[in-house]
Amino acid sequence: MKYKIRQERDGDEAAIRDVVERAFAGKSFADPDDKFIVERLREDGSLVLSLVAEGRGQLIGQVALSPAKVGDLKYLCLGPIAVVPEQQGKGIGGDLMGHALGVAQAYGRDGVVLLGDPKYYSRFGFEKFASVSYDGKGADALQLLPFTEPPSGKVVFHPLLTA
Ligand SMILES: CC(C)(COP(=O)(O)OP(=O)(O)OC[C@H]1O[C@@H](n2cnc3c(N)ncnc32)[C@H](O)[C@@H]1OP(=O)(O)O)[C@@H](O)C(=O)NCCC(=O)NCCS
Repeated sequence: MKYKIRQERDGDEAAIRDVVERAFAGKSFADPDDKFIVERLREDGSLVLSLVAEGRGQLIGQVALSPAKVGDLKYLCLGPIAVVPEQQGKGIGGDLMGHALGVAQAYGRDGVVLLGDPKYYSRFGFEKFASVSYDGKGADALQLLPFTEPPSGKVVFHPLLTA
């Protein structure tokens, strides 16, 4: 299917919620509140980037960036990222990652941090760092993609992501 990646715009809110809800349905790591993360960040003024994939007039994927800290370094958190189940495995997630990482690099932060399966994110250059710790849930899934100096210290996500 042909699709395009664009910034979210007014009117996308419900469709973004739906994409996240459908993509995360039944996943062991999912929380029922995940579908509200993007709108909560938006309301808080903390949505650095929200991209959607649109095909045949429908939203089929989304990715968000929000501010995070790694020790004294200024990072961006990538997530949630979601592609609707019937469109997964066709490269749309990879395309969304590429666009979001390009923006993140241009944004001038020290890197990108996320919680996710290393089998997926290692292909984009994400790695675990022994010098970095995280006290929250899912610490085993913590990975970083530094743009500047080697990261060290504690990761702090936006409180709305870990609420
Ligand atoms: C993760 C996700 C965004 C990837 O999007 P996608 O469009 O399916 O990804 P792509 O088509 O670009 O890449 C597909 C590849 O990723 C792998 N993959 C997809 N999800 C994966 C996961 N959770 N863990 C490991 N590998 C995964 C596929 O096996 C495939 O591998 P291959 O290229 O070796 O065949 C999408 O599958 C999704 O929404 N999953 C459910 C929600 C989720 O897990 N979100 C991430 C946590 S925040």
